[in-house]
Amino acid sequence: MLKIAPSILAADFADLGREIRSVETAGADWLHVDVMDGRFVPNISIGIPVVQSVRRATDMFLDVHLMIVEPVKYAGRFCDAGADLVSFHVEADTPEGISAAIRDVKAKGKQVGIVLKPATPAEAAEPWLEQVDMVLAMTVEPGFGGQKFMADMLPKIRTLRAMMDRINPGCVLETDGGIDAATAPLVYEAGCDMAVAGSSVFGRADRTAAILALRAGK
Ligand code: DX5
Ligand code: ZN
Repeated sequence: MLKIAPSILAADFADLGREIRSVETAGADWLHVDVMDGRFVPNISIGIPVVQSVRRATDMFLDVHLMIVEPVKYAGRFCDAGADLVSFHVEADTPEGISAAIRDVKAKGKQVGIVLKPATPAEAAEPWLEQVDMVLAMTVEPGFGGQKFMADMLPKIRTLRAMMDRINPGCVLETDGGIDAATAPLVYEAGCDMAVAGSSVFGRADRTAAILALRAGK
């Protein structure tokens, strides 16, 4: 069954504790935390102090998505702040920098993921596939919630699934962006284990019904 990770980017930050509890009660699998630096993406969201507060507010698995340049500079600090998994974009640094960030997260005993923008081919994940716990395939341009799902990403998701089954079958394939009741079955059938959902969950008053609707496809 497709696992769901609500993204707090779509939550009411003025009432974040209650928002988090609502999706925990609603049966969400992970909590997705979008960190944006205003450089890698044209938006600024939250940072380490908020992750520290979120960690105190819930025992949920914190899936922290770093949309920042040179993630090696902060990946370890997000682990210390309470992240259970830290993911970052392969486009955000040199290959050496990405490898160093992976090493830092694993040295902290946390899970690590790499993220691909829509225009980045699946093959770009191959150098790190054996080392990571998760690959996140974006189905929108990173930087904002509430965007339209990019259906042309489905072949790339299938390619990633085949690569992962061959090289690292235990690796989680997550997708992120524009996931709702109509698109969730599409990414599940293409091979995703986990889907991030912001506006389709936090945009609805009934979070239980919202998450059930996303899982309805499977
Ligand atoms: C976009 C973020 C996504 C976004 C998802 O840069 O990485 O996690 O918050 O929001 P929706 O589900 O509304 O597209
Ligand atoms: Zn995200």
